Amino acid sequence: MFETLQTLNPDPILGLMAAFRQDANPSKVDLGVGVYKDEVGHTPILACVKAADAAHRAEETSKTYVGPTGDPDFNHGIEQLIFGTDSPVFAERRLRTLQAPGGCGALRIAAELINRAKTGAAIWVSDPTWANHVPLLGDASLEIKVYPYYDAAHQALNADAMLAALEKIPATDLVLLHGCCHNPCGVDLSPQHWDQVAEIAVRRGFTPFVDLAYLGLGTGLDEDAYGVRKLASVVPELLVASSCSKNFGLYRERVGALSLLLPNPAQADLVYGQVQNVARGVYSMPPNYGGALVGRILREPQARAAWALELGTMRDRINDLRAQLAEKFRARLHTERFDFIPRQLGMFSFLGLSRDQVQRLKNEYSIYMVDSSRINVAGVNQANIDYFCDAVCAVL
Ligand code: LMR
Repeated sequence: MFETLQTLNPDPILGLMAAFRQDANPSKVDLGVGVYKDEVGHTPILACVKAADAAHRAEETSKTYVGPTGDPDFNHGIEQLIFGTDSPVFAERRLRTLQAPGGCGALRIAAELINRAKTGAAIWVSDPTWANHVPLLGDASLEIKVYPYYDAAHQALNADAMLAALEKIPATDLVLLHGCCHNPCGVDLSPQHWDQVAEIAVRRGFTPFVDLAYLGLGTGLDEDAYGVRKLASVVPELLVASSCSKNFGLYRERVGALSLLLPNPAQADLVYGQVQNVARGVYSMPPNYGGALVGRILREPQARAAWALELGTMRDRINDLRAQLAEKFRARLHTERFDFIPRQLGMFSFLGLSRDQVQRLKNEYSIYMVDSSRINVAGVNQANIDYFCDAVCAVL
């Protein structure tokens, strides 16, 4: 049966996890897969999640199916978080949210839904984008096209090229946008850029699709939602895939959501029925546990406030590390070469190293990052920052 299949290379991101675990070097540094780590290199369970888990276990009375749309508290809480409590979309009854198995599950069922509505529709992704966007969307038969985004020479947004490309996208297509903390480059759209993108989307008529996997890890919960809220205020149709992996630290529980904004309530109900049918044919129903915890945290004001504080601690730590990295590189190199790091947001930045230099860091120093030289800033800590900066300077 399977003799026609070929051996695959390891996944460019997940393969690093396995390689890192096998490395016996006590000085090894993991800047690969995008998980938050604290000062001792540990990915903690948030205290608010532990508390919600205890309450959930005490109160849970059944393990019957949660139902195709997931936990209602979760869906409601996620909508308020993303769109803002006072968003007119609630009164307009145009928004529907479906709990999904992670942001990946949300992306994939969205892709299947789009393909069901418009077979082989084209979706434009930023250059670069998260490596897994391509299989998640492309394997559902969408045609992947690319718009310019990152200016590698200046480690910044290539706004002119991006806006010029968006101006040419037809109304039949979709445009995937990173809501905040761009993965992999860390370069986000400013509010002014979002305003421009929204204006072009309305004029051209293409459908924006926002991937919001890092809400709250850039500048703040409301600030990071600026783009999606701007789009929601002007476009008739919008898709948002969100994830609770990073901002709730619930990676392995696979908690995400797909939110669908449609032109009117009747259309919203119709599409919501379709997407439940799509999910039924893929995974049937979402897992309950992680969504139940997030739903509980978001519905209880004290728990929500405690979560926002813990999220703020993670965000501040990342932003502080960004500043420290720039300072340490400046002290070593006497140039501004790495000053871009604190100008970027979220977990990731490209160091701008060659593949060869990335390999040397791995082979000679046991420092792991994606081949593109994407680093997970949260993997840096006070025990490894000097080792890391020295090693990078040595391979430059
Ligand atoms: C990453 O980009 O490292 C994370 O989103 C983890 C993943 O699944 O790739």
